[in-house]
Amino acid sequence: MESDKLEYILDHFKNPRNYGTIEDADFSYEEGIPSCGDVIRLDLRIKDNKLDDIKFSGTGCAISQASVSILTENVTGMEVNEVISFTDQDMLEALGGQVSPIRFKCALLGLTVLKKALIGKKAA
Ligand code: FES
Repeated sequence: MESDKLEYILDHFKNPRNYGTIEDADFSYEEGIPSCGDVIRLDLRIKDNKLDDIKFSGTGCAISQASVSILTENVTGMEVNEVISFTDQDMLEALGGQVSPIRFKCALLGLTVLKKALIGKKAA
């Protein structure tokens, strides 16, 4: 991994953006990876068909936590249809394209939770 991209990911892990919860969120969803026990929750607020606010919480490895932090920055302000069209590849590119395949599940957990939240799945 190139050092500037590693620094970028580490910065998001140490200083997560959009960490927290949204009271009375329009959509919320939480999902984990059973094999490691890590869990991410996302709360969303939609306004004028755009993702007006997004907050994440939960616990996980550095890659999963940095990825969801980076994801929240990328999708804030997007139209809902754009968010739904945000692909796994887009997520991996947002991470600098340097995450190894063995960590893809970590890198993509936040995006999985986001998509499920938007299709109306409810947090447990
Ligand atoms: Fe659990 Fe990365 S090891 S999400």
